[in-house]
Amino acid sequence: MDNLPNVSVFETPEELALAAAERFVQYASESTERVDRFSVALAGGHTPERVYELLATEPFRSRIRWSHVHLFFGDERCVPPNDPESNYGMTYEALISKVPIPPTNVQRIIGEGNAGQNAQDYENHLRSFFDGLPWPRFDLVLLGMGEDGHTASLFPNSAALRETSHWVVPSRNEQSGQDRITVTVPAFNHARHVMFLVTGEKKAQRLKEVLRSSTGSEQLPVQAITPIDGNLEWLVDSEAASLL
Ligand code: 6PG
Repeated sequence: MDNLPNVSVFETPEELALAAAERFVQYASESTERVDRFSVALAGGHTPERVYELLATEPFRSRIRWSHVHLFFGDERCVPPNDPESNYGMTYEALISKVPIPPTNVQRIIGEGNAGQNAQDYENHLRSFFDGLPWPRFDLVLLGMGEDGHTASLFPNSAALRETSHWVVPSRNEQSGQDRITVTVPAFNHARHVMFLVTGEKKAQRLKEVLRSSTGSEQLPVQAITPIDGNLEWLVDSEAASLL
């Protein structure tokens, strides 16, 4: 898109999902060729679900070396995995239960129990996987955007958004009152590839603000996601792009 070089607009959410699945396959093969593994931080919410479903079907499923793929989550709602609100639950149904990925390659954020302890445990998992690195170096981070400009569970004017040392922290959706656990901004910003998936007319105004204004991350947490040594791309549908 004119003067938004890293924004790709797709006519429909289905075309967007197909393009996102194709990029996943591309990054997976690049990474497994380079370092024999592919680490991904998955997004929650509704928008990525179709991408996960597509990855579990041909022509995508057989082009991915699933035994080399390591799935992590960018955030989770503080609910058990069988709860309809669970990001892990959604991803398990759409993808994980349908592909030959070793269970040890899937690291879910424990949503049930003590959020503080679960956040620390997840950070410990990431620190041992990214052994010795000052921050995690995900090969791919998938993110969505809420109508308020939040991403993962990094909400406007929140302590989680301002975190500068932890990789994973508890968070809270003040609008719904739901407790969450989220990977932090610095941890996302050390990724190789960050891909935002945004669909729907309801997000058009906010997306315009995010891409065309310098409001700032306190109000628009999405604006805090600026990879330090990696690329950032936006896959949006025509409805979400209608005001750009
Ligand atoms: C979550 C997500 C969240 C999501 C946005 C968009 O756990 O809810 O991580 O950040 O990406 O809220 O959600 P939709 O895709 O459902 O619109």
